[in-house]
Amino acid sequence: MIDDIIYISKEAGELIRAKFNTNFSFEFKSNESDLVTEVDTASEKIIVDFIKKKYPTHGIITEEGGTSLSKSEYNWVIDPIDGTTNFAHGLPIFAVSIGVQKNGETVAGVVYDIMLNVVYSAELKGGAFENDKKIKVNDNSNLRRALLVTGFPYNVAENPENALEKFAALTKAARGIRRLGSAAIDFCYVAKGVFDGFWEVHLKPWDMCAGKLIVEEAGGLVTDFEGKKIDIFSKKILASNGKVHDAMIEVLNQNP
Ligand code: IPD
Ligand code: CA
Ligand code: CA
Repeated sequence: MIDDIIYISKEAGELIRAKFNTNFSFEFKSNESDLVTEVDTASEKIIVDFIKKKYPTHGIITEEGGTSLSKSEYNWVIDPIDGTTNFAHGLPIFAVSIGVQKNGETVAGVVYDIMLNVVYSAELKGGAFENDKKIKVNDNSNLRRALLVTGFPYNVAENPENALEKFAALTKAARGIRRLGSAAIDFCYVAKGVFDGFWEVHLKPWDMCAGKLIVEEAGGLVTDFEGKKIDIFSKKILASNGKVHDAMIEVLNQNP
């Protein structure tokens, strides 16, 4: 199945790449920060049509389609463009993210970094890969030397879960913080050891389904802000190399 997920991620990615920096239409969702472009919708259609044809019994949950998990044994969890704001503004950091769950457990995940033409993939208990190369998290255990990444939900102006205070606290505690604008890519950069940790409040299942598995299969740890196991419906997410995890939790909980 992983070959099929990679195949369809690239098919959708090709369309997205062709539309980058062209005149596409867009609409607002929850507010003026929260966009959906015609390219998000077109990418989603390519992926959904493929699944319906090849895996007609599988359930599908997508960002733009508003579907929910079905009782099928398999469910596909899809973000047709993760990093829509970047895409809409001409910043070349965005991905297709597809995870597949079997009986509620993620068994395969693919994040396709479209403009760099890099495929990150993982299968449960099969390791994590950047194209054909096995990747793993780094082994830094010192938060002061850590490069971290985060993102903000579209309602950040309301400061849910003290998101801005947490950002300030970790900015002071770590070597540096980045904000790329694609949660799926943030996970992959933890998986390959570029970032030591990634945290965010209010992520959605399609933002994290593939990326969470990729980090875990690269030897990293993904929990909530208390160190507890999470599923793709959890809101608070902390992904790290495992070694700066506790130190990050301590800082995150200074502003619970
Ligand atoms: C967003 C991106 C962003 C994150 C937001 C997500 P979208 O997804 O992953 O990095 O900070 O929380 O909603 O809307 O571009 O698919
Ligand atoms: Ca997303
Ligand atoms: Ca999206």
